[in-house]
Amino acid sequence: MARLTERSRSITGKRAVVTGAASGIGRATAHLFADEGARVVVADLGDDRVAAVVEEIRAVHGDAAATGVTCDVADHAQLRALVQAADERFGGIDLLVNNAGVSLPSSAFQPEDEFETNWARTLDVNLTAHARLIRLAMPYLAQSGEGRIVNIASTEAIVTTAGLAAYAATKAGVVGLTKSFAVELGRHGVTVNCICPGPIRTGMTDEIPEESKQTYARRRVPLRRYGDPEEVAQMTLSLCLPAASFVNGAIIPVDGGMTIRHT
Ligand code: NAI
Repeated sequence: MARLTERSRSITGKRAVVTGAASGIGRATAHLFADEGARVVVADLGDDRVAAVVEEIRAVHGDAAATGVTCDVADHAQLRALVQAADERFGGIDLLVNNAGVSLPSSAFQPEDEFETNWARTLDVNLTAHARLIRLAMPYLAQSGEGRIVNIASTEAIVTTAGLAAYAATKAGVVGLTKSFAVELGRHGVTVNCICPGPIRTGMTDEIPEESKQTYARRRVPLRRYGDPEEVAQMTLSLCLPAASFVNGAIIPVDGGMTIRHT
């Protein structure tokens, strides 16, 4: 009998754009995608930070595996340049991972100018950029019939913390835009899914003292630990497989069970 299964679990040869790829979850995603045979555009702030990750990947997989684009995702023109660079260097885009994010304090009692600045920046980076990049990349993502978009939100979209109003609002917004684009883009052969990471050891959580991390994890996370960036990247990869062809509009926590715990 011929094999029953038809769908591939390989991303070999796929062309991926990963934002925020110089650190943490984005860096782990860029590495994992290259490890699995994709060609990756590493997009982030800072020429040196971008070049460092590109070099790491090239050292393992050769020069064709990665290219870098320095890009502030809050700037529409720089997003246009990012998509253009991906097309020029790799001839298109198959996989888009909207991962770049900032976590800036925003509370009811903050000085007004600080609140306004942080609110605007958080919306620009964490939310508006996702929508803009999806729109800009769509003509390319639609070409293969297997286009994949993964948006990185947060468990802060589900349960939240005092003093993070802008962050929580943007992450809930990412859940919303994921669902709407998933409904709209399905007919173009593009899936749109969202991951809500729980506490992960990255640049964003670096300043939290180790003892506080462990106390938090023991109290809140059924697996009793922080996650590693790779554990989020592996879920992103799963959603990008050709085999994930019927997963669309899913909101998937990668949080060690944190958000299903009652107390
Ligand atoms: P990270 O700080 O290690 O990496 C974030 C990257 O995004 C950095 O390299 C940063 O330069 C980049 N970035 C920030 N603003 C940018 C901009 N305007 N343009 C381009 N790049 C920009 O943090 P992490 O944790 O890897 O963050 C990745 C995503 O995961 C973020 O969206 C974050 O909100 C989300 N997340 C992280 C969690 C954690 O516990 N670390 C939990 C839940 C969600």
